[in-house]
Amino acid sequence: MKGPTRVNHPPRVNVPADNRPLVAPIYQSVKFTFDSVGESEKLDRGERDGYVYSRVSNPTLTQLAQTLAELQGREACLLTASGVAAVNLTLLALLKQGDHVVLFAEMYQPTRYMVRRLLARFGIEHTMLSIEDAAALERTLASRPTRLVVFESPSNPVLKIADIERITTVARAHNALTVLDNTFAGFHNHGEFDVDLYVHSLTKFAAGHGDVMGGAVIGSRKLLSSMERDFVVLGATLDPHAAFLIQRGLKTYFVRIERQVRTAHAVARFLEGHPVVERVLYPGLASHPQHALAARQMKDFGAVVTFELAPRADPVKFADTLQLFTISASLGSTESLVQPGQLMMPRGLNEEERRWAAVTHRTMRLSIGLEDEADLLADLDRALAAACG
Ligand SMILES: Cc1ncc(COP(=O)(O)O)c(C=O)c1O
Repeated sequence: MKGPTRVNHPPRVNVPADNRPLVAPIYQSVKFTFDSVGESEKLDRGERDGYVYSRVSNPTLTQLAQTLAELQGREACLLTASGVAAVNLTLLALLKQGDHVVLFAEMYQPTRYMVRRLLARFGIEHTMLSIEDAAALERTLASRPTRLVVFESPSNPVLKIADIERITTVARAHNALTVLDNTFAGFHNHGEFDVDLYVHSLTKFAAGHGDVMGGAVIGSRKLLSSMERDFVVLGATLDPHAAFLIQRGLKTYFVRIERQVRTAHAVARFLEGHPVVERVLYPGLASHPQHALAARQMKDFGAVVTFELAPRADPVKFADTLQLFTISASLGSTESLVQPGQLMMPRGLNEEERRWAAVTHRTMRLSIGLEDEADLLADLDRALAAACG
C-alpha cells in the first residue's frame, strides 16, 4: 500500500471481546459500516442492531442517553447540541398549526422567544401566565384545548417554585402534555411527578465544567419514539466528543451537587443577614415564599442563589468588585459565577409580565462553584461593602 492509500486505510486494531477499556472510547466517526450490503439492509429493515450515521445514532451518545434516562427515572432520552435545542426541538416535534401552548413569564428568555415569536409565525398560539398562579392555569386549560404546558422549577433567574403536582394534575385532566425544564433542579429531582417530558441543559450541572454544551429530552419510550425522526431531520445533533465530556462530567455530578448546594445554603444564609441585601431568593430559606412547597417536592434546594441588593448599593460596583465570582452568563460550573440583573432584563414583556418576571437592576444571580466556602463569603462581604462605598 502506498502512503496516500495507507493514511486513508490505517491498520485496523481489534480489541479482544473479553478485554474492555474501563472508560468507553469516543466513537468520533460520522459513518459506520458493515462488510456486506446484506447486513446494511438488515439494519435498514430493523432486523439487527447497529449504527449507520452519527446524526441518527452513535454509541457514545447511546451510553449518555441511557445514563440520563435512568438518572431522571424514565425510559428514554434524546440528546441535542445545546439546552435550547432540547427545548425547541421538543416544541417543534409536538406542536402543529392551531395548537395552543401555556408558558410562564418567569421562564428562561429563549424559551419565551421560541413560543411567542418563532412558533407564532407558524400559527401556534399561546397564553403566558405567572408560575405562581396555578388557578389561572386551571382556568386557561378549562377554557380552551391546550396541547402542552411548558414550565421550569426553580425558574431562571428568580427561583420561583412551580407546584408540579397541581400543574401535572390539571394538565392530565385536560389532555395537555407537560414539559418541565429541569435544568436548575437536576436529574435527581422531580422524577416522581407525572411529567411527560423533562428537558435539561447539559451545559450546566451535568457537564459541570463550563467547557461543553449539550441538551437532553427525557421521557417515555413511546413519546420519544414519536419525536425521534423530527429530531434527526432537524439536525441539532450532539457531537460524540461533547457527549464523552458530559459523560465524564457526570461521574462527579452527585459529589459536586452535594457540595455546591451546601455552599449555596451558607451563601444564602450569609446574604440574608447582610444589611446591604434587601431580599434573598433561595428556596432553602424559610423566608422564601414557596419554601414549604420546595421542601415537599425537592431533595435539595439547588446551587443557584438569587438576591436583591438594597437600593443604596451600586449593583455594577458589587459585580465588578467580586474576584472569585466571575461575571458570566450560564451556571453550573466548578467556578462561582455572578450575573447582574442588567444583563438578564426580560425583553418583550408587558408591565404585568415584567412584574411576574421580577428581575430588576438590583437582582443578582449567583451560581455557586466548588471554591472554599469561607473564601466565597469573604469575597461577597468585600464586594457588598464596596457597593456602598
Ligand atoms: C433553564 C434553562 N434552560 C435552558 C437553557 C439553555 O441551555 P443551553 O445554554 O445549553 O442552550 C438554559 C441556559 O441558561 C437555562 O438556564
